[in-house]
Amino acid sequence: MDLEPAFIGRTYDDFLFRPERGVVASRGEVRLTAPLSRRLGLELPIVSANMDSVTGGEMAKTMALEGGIGFVHRGLSIEAQTDEVRRVKRRHGHVIEQPFALPRMATIREAREFTRQHRITGLLIEETAGSRILAGLLSNRDMPWFAGHDDRRVEAFMTPVGRLHTGPPGIGVEEAKRIMFEHRIEKLPLVDAARRIHGLITKSDIILSRQRPESSKDAKGRLLVGAAIGARGDFLERAAGLVEAGADALVIDIAHGHSEVMRRAVEAVRRRLGDVELVCGNVGTAEGARFLRELGADAIKVGIGPGRGCRTRLETAAGVPQLQAIREAWCAVEDAVPIIADGGVRDDKDIFLALVCGASTVMLGSMLSGTDEAPGYVIEDPATRQKQKIYRGMTSPQAVFDALYDAEADPADLEAALETPAEGQEMRVPYQGSVRGVLHRIRGHLRSAVSYAGGTALPEVRGMVVRDPLAHLVPLSEASRRESYER
Ligand code: XMP
Repeated sequence: MDLEPAFIGRTYDDFLFRPERGVVASRGEVRLTAPLSRRLGLELPIVSANMDSVTGGEMAKTMALEGGIGFVHRGLSIEAQTDEVRRVKRRHGHVIEQPFALPRMATIREAREFTRQHRITGLLIEETAGSRILAGLLSNRDMPWFAGHDDRRVEAFMTPVGRLHTGPPGIGVEEAKRIMFEHRIEKLPLVDAARRIHGLITKSDIILSRQRPESSKDAKGRLLVGAAIGARGDFLERAAGLVEAGADALVIDIAHGHSEVMRRAVEAVRRRLGDVELVCGNVGTAEGARFLRELGADAIKVGIGPGRGCRTRLETAAGVPQLQAIREAWCAVEDAVPIIADGGVRDDKDIFLALVCGASTVMLGSMLSGTDEAPGYVIEDPATRQKQKIYRGMTSPQAVFDALYDAEADPADLEAALETPAEGQEMRVPYQGSVRGVLHRIRGHLRSAVSYAGGTALPEVRGMVVRDPLAHLVPLSEASRRESYER
């Protein structure tokens, strides 16, 4: 299908959505389900950007808990990035398959340090280091809280295996719940007849899956997480490490995704990792979207230059207004490959417009970067007393500068960074507390938008609008834009 001329040169602030007769009884019931990629789906169509001031493990974890997903940025050593992914995958699950364990000869000091480092509330004790033979369980309550015991062995404080309740490997969730409630315990180690550790079920995971049915999970009940790779240097080792750590999707994220560099990278990843869920971007045209579909991308990331921390359009003149880019991409591939609209969202209404014009999900950078879960520190402006955080483009001088001083950085990435002048910039954004608050607001506004559009769920409204969005959009004049947005 060809791009409708009315979208040429147009972006979010150029349209409003024409209200239809509302049929929703309660907005709280409006589902916002959307595909992220060919095989993954979300309950909230929001993705946090793979940027070093937006998505590390903490952001990715919270995004998945809330029904979205986060892509951990790649401005880290392979080891550090895979650690972040592992942390998200371990956070929750029906069964923790490889629970942490310390040997019985470990000291209380080591156990304390270990539980703090991995943010866990108790740990399994094994007979000898690496034996995976269960010796006992040490919970936070077992740890001596008074001074003078730091050098004693954990075996003196743990509940020994003879007094522990355990379950067999493969136990069902219902049976596990029954045992845990009957004995009033919070952790159930799974062991075979030889006491070999096969997993751990925790009460907090069971409660969480009941309280948060909308969170994004894999078949084993673990949170979904994505991670970014580049297209040169050590990208294949990075990709393999991330998949091994449990990443559910990789994004090959390069500034110009409609390129030979992308083709070579996708082919290499497919040769090495086969059918891994692969998001590719960024592109901003119909030709770019078709190119990625033909390469076998599982989702297409669209956006050339709309990002807030982005100077590409200013420095190179390359770019396509974001709503036009989304529409072009959708007209080219329709719903054969889900589209992630990346960058340029300033108001919640932009998200709705992106979705009904063709995107399946929307990636946010600056809108999420002022939150607790984004990496970085809260700073207080001494003059205004306003709290702020730093948001920066991934090719901003500051991000490149940091990478240059990172001993672990990939030399190929550094060379590329030094070759290309900066196309990103740094800015301060207001501190906003937890990202949960931001997502709660977005969810509410999307539900209201669905209701104004006369639907009961986002997929229904999108399905109705996406084939002919101009029948539902109102183009704005300068005067009507002032009336709408100037407050
Ligand atoms: P928002 O508007 O949500 O955009 O903050 C996030 C997206 O911006 C892109 N990005 C960059 N683009 N130079 C660019 O041209 C950069 O340095 C840069 N850093 C991030 C990226 O697509 C991100 O998801």
